[in-house]
Amino acid sequence: MSSRRTFLTGLTSVAAIRAGTAPTPLQQKLSHQWQRPQFHLLPAANWMNDPNAPLYYRGLYHMFYQYNPNGAFWGTMHWGHATSKDLIHWKHQPVAMAPTPGGPDKDGVFSGCAVINNGTPSFLYTGVNPETQCLATSLDPQLNHWEKYSHNPVIAAPPAGLALTGFRDPAVWRERDQWYMALGAGRKGIGGMVLLYKSPDLIQWTYLHPLFEGPMDPQSKAKDVVGTGEMWECPDFFPIGNRHVLLISTKRLVYYWVGKYQDERFIPETEGVVDYGAYYAARTMIDAKGRRILWGWITEKRPVAEHKEAGWAGAMSLPRVLALNASHHLVSTPIPELATLRDDAVPVKPVRVAAGQEVPLPVYGTESAEFLLEFAAPQAEVGLRFSPARNPFEVAFDPSRQQIRCGKLQAPCSLAPGESLRIHLFRDGSVIELFVNDRVTLTGREYLPGLDTVAVYAKGAPAHLSKAQFWPINPISSDRLTT
Ligand code: FRU
Repeated sequence: MSSRRTFLTGLTSVAAIRAGTAPTPLQQKLSHQWQRPQFHLLPAANWMNDPNAPLYYRGLYHMFYQYNPNGAFWGTMHWGHATSKDLIHWKHQPVAMAPTPGGPDKDGVFSGCAVINNGTPSFLYTGVNPETQCLATSLDPQLNHWEKYSHNPVIAAPPAGLALTGFRDPAVWRERDQWYMALGAGRKGIGGMVLLYKSPDLIQWTYLHPLFEGPMDPQSKAKDVVGTGEMWECPDFFPIGNRHVLLISTKRLVYYWVGKYQDERFIPETEGVVDYGAYYAARTMIDAKGRRILWGWITEKRPVAEHKEAGWAGAMSLPRVLALNASHHLVSTPIPELATLRDDAVPVKPVRVAAGQEVPLPVYGTESAEFLLEFAAPQAEVGLRFSPARNPFEVAFDPSRQQIRCGKLQAPCSLAPGESLRIHLFRDGSVIELFVNDRVTLTGREYLPGLDTVAVYAKGAPAHLSKAQFWPINPISSDRLTT
C-alpha cells in the first residue's frame, strides 16, 4: 500500500510541474491523506453536502452540490460544480452559484434541482433566511454561468395556515403542459411532509396539497426537527416502470415509498430505507442510456474538528442504478461502468472456513478496491475482517440477528432458506459502499490508517466462501483532487 501511495504522491508534483503550478500547501496535505477517497467525486478541498441538480446536458454530465468554499465545515452554502463524460471521471468547474448580498439567498444557496424549460437550463433552489424558493437560468452551453431571476423569490412564503418546521429543497418535473414541484416541509410535533405545487412557467406557483406526510418518531431524543422526523428534507419524485417513487431525507437516512401517482395524488404501496449508513440527501437523474441514476451525500462520521483539520469533508456516492424488484421495493446497484476502473483482478480461491477460524485473503491495495464475495447459505456469523494496524473492523452478516454490519453501522438483512450471501463492496480510503444481495445498501466510514490484511472468518458454524473476486481500483485523478 505504501508504495502505491508514494507513487500517487509523486504524480502530484509531476502534474503540477506540467501545469506550471506548484501544489498549494493544502493540495499537498490532501494528496497525502489515506482517508481521502480516490474514485469518488468530492471537491478539490473543503466541505460538500447534498448533490444538487444532477443533469445530463449537451453530451456532458453535470453535478452541482452544496459547497462551503471557506473550509471543511458546513456554512455559507454555495453550489459547487463538476462535469463528467462517463459519470465516473470528473472535472471541477467554477462555483455555479454563490449567495447574493441583499438577495433572498444572501445567507445561503440551499439545495435544489435542474430542469430544461423550453430549451433553457433552469435551477429551482432554496434561498435563506427566511427559506424561499428561487429560480436561476443559464444560457451558457457549459453551464458555468447562471443568472438569478431578477424577481426572486418565485415562492416567497409557505402556504397560509401551515406552521411549518422548514420549507426547502425543491424537486421539479414536467407533466403534460405544467411544471410540478415537491418541496420538503413538516409540522412541529406532528411529522414531515412534502408539499405539492404547480406552475405553467416556473415563475407563478400555486400550492395544491401535501403530496405525502408521515409521523415523527415520538421516541426520538434528537434536539432538532430533522433528527426527530418533524422535517423532511430533499424530496425527489419520479416514475419507474408503472409506479412512482418518493424519496425524502430525515432522521439521518434517506427513505423511499413506491406507489401509484394519479390526478396529483400519491398512494404509496411499499416503503424502505435507501441506504442504512453514512448516506443522505439523495437525488436522481436520467442518464444518456435512460437509466434512473441515484446520487447521495456520503456524510462524515468523525468529529468536526478532525475534518476541519483534514481540509475536506463529505463525498458523493458512486452512481447507482435504481430499479424496482418483484415485490415493488426500490433497489440500487452500482453502475456497471465502474468496472472500467478495475486494475488486474487478483485471483482469490474459494475456501472453506472452520467455525472460529480466520483465513487471510491474498489481496493487496485494499485501501482502494472492489470485492465480490459469495458465502453459501451461512448458518452463523460470517464476514470479512479488515485489520489495519490500529483499527480492525468487520463487514459481517449475522443470520441470528438478521443483520449486516459494516464497522459500527448496521442494517437489517435476512436471507431466504438456502440463499447465498452476496457481498459487493467498494472501499475507497475512509469510504466503504456495501451492496448485499442487490437489496440492502450500507455506506460505512472507517478512518484509521495502517497496512491492511483482509481475512474471511466464520463464527459458530463452518462457512464456505464459494466465490471471490477482487480488484484494486485505479484512481480517477493523479493527485487525490478528483479532477
Ligand atoms: C440537507 C440540507 C437541506 C438544505 C441543505 C443545506 O442536508 O439540510 O435541507 O437545503 O442541506 O446545506
